[in-house]
Amino acid sequence: MEGHSQYTPKSGFARWLERRLPILSFMHDSFVSYPTPKNLNYMWVFGAILSFMLVAQIVTGVVLAMHYTPETTLAFDSVEKIMRDVNWGTILRYAHANGASMFFLAVYLHIFRGMYYGSYKDPREVLWILGVVIFMLMMATGFLGYVLPWGQMSFWAATVITNLFSAIPVVGTAITTWLLGGYSVDNATLNRFYALHYLLPFIIVAIVALHVWALHVTGQNNPAGVEVKDVKKDTVPFTPHATMKDAVGIAAFLVVYAWLTFFVPNYLGHPDNYIEANPLVTPPHIVPEWYFLPFYAILRAIPNKLIGVIALFASILITAALPWLDTSKVKSAVYRPLFRKEFWIFVAVCIGLGYLGAQPAEGAYLWFARALSAYYFLHFLVILPILGRIEKPEPTPESIDASIVRGKTSHV
Ligand code: HEM
Repeated sequence: MEGHSQYTPKSGFARWLERRLPILSFMHDSFVSYPTPKNLNYMWVFGAILSFMLVAQIVTGVVLAMHYTPETTLAFDSVEKIMRDVNWGTILRYAHANGASMFFLAVYLHIFRGMYYGSYKDPREVLWILGVVIFMLMMATGFLGYVLPWGQMSFWAATVITNLFSAIPVVGTAITTWLLGGYSVDNATLNRFYALHYLLPFIIVAIVALHVWALHVTGQNNPAGVEVKDVKKDTVPFTPHATMKDAVGIAAFLVVYAWLTFFVPNYLGHPDNYIEANPLVTPPHIVPEWYFLPFYAILRAIPNKLIGVIALFASILITAALPWLDTSKVKSAVYRPLFRKEFWIFVAVCIGLGYLGAQPAEGAYLWFARALSAYYFLHFLVILPILGRIEKPEPTPESIDASIVRGKTSHV
């Protein structure tokens, strides 16, 4: 996909800059003339939405940081001050908190899109693994940020999660004490969580740059899962085609984001987080934010703490091995009838785990969580490898143009 730049500097300044730092031709090649498959559907707008949300979170976060105090006796009150006294503070805080939820919603849709259309397969393995790294960094950032308002859920979520490390044999307790900066979640913990919560988004920006670089080397996959053969016939320039479509996607996404922020800002939050952290009172149910619930369900499904922690990390890391676990030569689920069914079962399993993660870990809930956790791992380790071998895919179109003729995919 890479070739000679088609960019010709128009002004004197552009020519001057181009000879010293060819940033204008780089931007032109990446976001203007860049060839995009002409059959991409609206599931391909989430990359742009994620880029938008990353910037939105950094901008709102930096302004919040100007008014926030990372000290245990002041943190909760400083957030209240933001809500009551700081100009636009209420909107700023709700935009950031709900922005995290919208960011995760977009990343889940982006990941499932990749799974459905086989975007993780050769030659996009590195692009996919960089995505998994971004996802893990997002989870770390979300967790650290949730601790900062120093409410009851903040404190107890931090206690539960940091305690997981104590399950590591021999050195576990030492590691936990080192992470906390003491024997329990306290001022040192809050301070370092704040420092890391501010740092990680910039590391995410760096990995996203690598992610997009890898994307521009291999080119985009598309709903047909057939590689672009003829750049002239199968692609259109990124601008205006993809730019316009991304703009429509971002606008539609903003409607939902704005509705959450302005009309139901506390819908996704937990009421206990409006009670200041109290180390002497444990809430009856400690529940993380919705986007962590499937993984939380897997953790609690296993009675042994160490194995539970291993399963939790394995459930995330296993996605990095997807390009090698799914051996089918055909990428897109559009032409894989069995995989298509399995994909939707897997989506249902993840949603089911999410529901169970919010319920108390007892009785029937626990048994369902165990069954679904087992299915989650079977999907990756057994079902996908078997499907790759036995499934007879439908004939794929010879070219993307043919797939459009077949009416399987939409036009830009
Ligand atoms: C901050 C988070 C992320 C940002 C800003 C981001 C950005 C992007 C962008 C701009 C694209 C191209 C447009 C599109 O295909 O939607 C893309 C493609 C892709 N991303 Fe991400 N991404 C993020 C997270 C992830 C994660 C977590 C994964 C997977 C674990 C992932 C996997 C992929 C794959 C496989 C593609 C290629 C899709 C294709 O061409 O079919 N990304 N990403």
